[in-house]
Amino acid sequence: MTIQTFSFLAPPVVFGVKSAENIGEHITRLGARHVLVVSDRGLEKAGLVDQLCGWIRKANVAIRPYLDIEPEPSIHSVRACVDFARQAGCDLVVGMGGGSAMDSAKVVAAMLGNDGDIMDYLGLNKIPHKGVPTILLPTTAGTGSEIGRGSLFYVPERQSKEAVFSSYMLTDLALIDPVLALSAPASVTASSGLDALCHALESYTGRAANPLSMPFAELGIKWISKWLAPAVAEGRNLEAREGMALGCLYASVALANANTHAVHALAYPLQGKNRIVHGKANSVLLPYVFKALAPALAEKFAEMADWMNLAPGVSLVEGITHLSEQIGIPARMSALGVTASQLEDFTQEAVQIRRLLDNCPVPLDGAQIQAIYQDAL
Ligand SMILES: [Fe+2]
Repeated sequence: MTIQTFSFLAPPVVFGVKSAENIGEHITRLGARHVLVVSDRGLEKAGLVDQLCGWIRKANVAIRPYLDIEPEPSIHSVRACVDFARQAGCDLVVGMGGGSAMDSAKVVAAMLGNDGDIMDYLGLNKIPHKGVPTILLPTTAGTGSEIGRGSLFYVPERQSKEAVFSSYMLTDLALIDPVLALSAPASVTASSGLDALCHALESYTGRAANPLSMPFAELGIKWISKWLAPAVAEGRNLEAREGMALGCLYASVALANANTHAVHALAYPLQGKNRIVHGKANSVLLPYVFKALAPALAEKFAEMADWMNLAPGVSLVEGITHLSEQIGIPARMSALGVTASQLEDFTQEAVQIRRLLDNCPVPLDGAQIQAIYQDAL
């Protein structure tokens, strides 16, 4: 047997109910004095930011909150946060929220150890030095930003979502407390949870899947498919939130090591051109992309259907479609405002996302991609 060379990377993780309450100990261990807290106004209203600052205060440090992170942040809004953090002289960044807050926190921390502008660092491994340490606390089980090395931003000048990807953005601690997700709205739980399922499904089927990423993908599929509908139906159910947090952690580790492919590639134009949020864009496309891939991947699809615990005779794509319906994901892109006249533009943008499409186990050309969009319209 020959096993292809592979690598595996994951940040330090602390997982558990109420584990966030001990964040002060981690801050002390990391030697910080001036902590930047990156979060958003929604979490401030929910009382979570105050709670977090109370826990941080136990470390006897100065706290500078920055709460103007917008959903699906533009590169300009992150620049404002970088300016704020540089002026405040922060030596550690705590990011709490969904992907937007954590993606921003990672890049801001990197910029605190580097000169220049964030635009200089768009792309792969362009950041020259490690920045200040980060601690990331997810409040929605979904994006997996707390585990990965990438951050996504909207670049208005090009109407596109673009990534900063750097080994220096691996967090110093992913602090995953399922209690923080208890107040997440049902629609966010649904779309971010299905995005996490998508991470597990895509990383398992992608060409970069490796012997360490695959078991994590399998566990992600099992846990998310069991707990997503209960977490959406009953947001205050801590057992369901815990199940989703763990499932998402598994999926995120798989994602960080084996990446996504066609679903995420096709979702990019929906995010850039129509400003549809990441989780929703991926959720709506998932069944259609997987339908197109199904004939070539019969064996893996049967395995994954089994892990989703589907009834005999129910295919993976039928199972995904049913789960989507059950949790209220729109069945078609048109329900999100996409029109037929956009599909050609979408296709032209999607075919260029080689970073993801080259990881797709089935090569997809422009005509096939447009056919998938047409099917999903
Ligand atoms: Fe995603």
